[in-house]
Amino acid sequence: MRAPNRNKEKLMTRILGGARLMLCAGLVLGGAGQTAQAVDHSFSSGFKFQERDGEALYHGICQGCHMPQGQGAAGAGAYPALAGNPRLASKIYPAFMVINGKKAMPSFAGALDDDQVAAVANYVRSHFGNQYTDQVTPAEVKALRPKAPPAASE
Ligand code: HEC
Repeated sequence: MRAPNRNKEKLMTRILGGARLMLCAGLVLGGAGQTAQAVDHSFSSGFKFQERDGEALYHGICQGCHMPQGQGAAGAGAYPALAGNPRLASKIYPAFMVINGKKAMPSFAGALDDDQVAAVANYVRSHFGNQYTDQVTPAEVKALRPKAPPAASE
């Protein structure tokens, strides 16, 4: 863990209070091939989120870092805003991020099935000032999944 500062603590408090992410962090760390990430911030084998709809998934998982209104945060790390984010014009992009993660964003490939990834991706693309109406499908999500376990990214 990096040295906490107040903002990071607030994030962690939100995560603790709003969801089960800390628990998950313990339960789902690692997964095949993700040992390096597991030290800090990963989610993978074992734990499965139960929520099925995008809103519940967003508030259970994503808002801990991206904030309740998708406004993002800056502190110990930078958590980009999803609100009004033009990169979400691509329906594949948020699904790709959720599957693969990137740097300080963990991969949720092991904890979410294709329907859940599609649901949460479509949720962020249609909320927080984003008004994209085309929807990523579970089949498209499936195609984004790595064939082999992803290499540790750090
Ligand atoms: C542990 C914190 C954390 C959680 C939880 C998290 N993210 Fe992220 N997310 C990040 C960080 C950090 C980045 C920036 C990664 C980078 O580019 O270095 C990011 C980037 C993104 C991006 C790309 C934004 C851009 O402008 O390129 C999207 C889309 C995204 N996250 C969606 C989600 C969704 C949907 C969820 C919930 C399923 C989620 N994130 C959960 C930390 C998190």
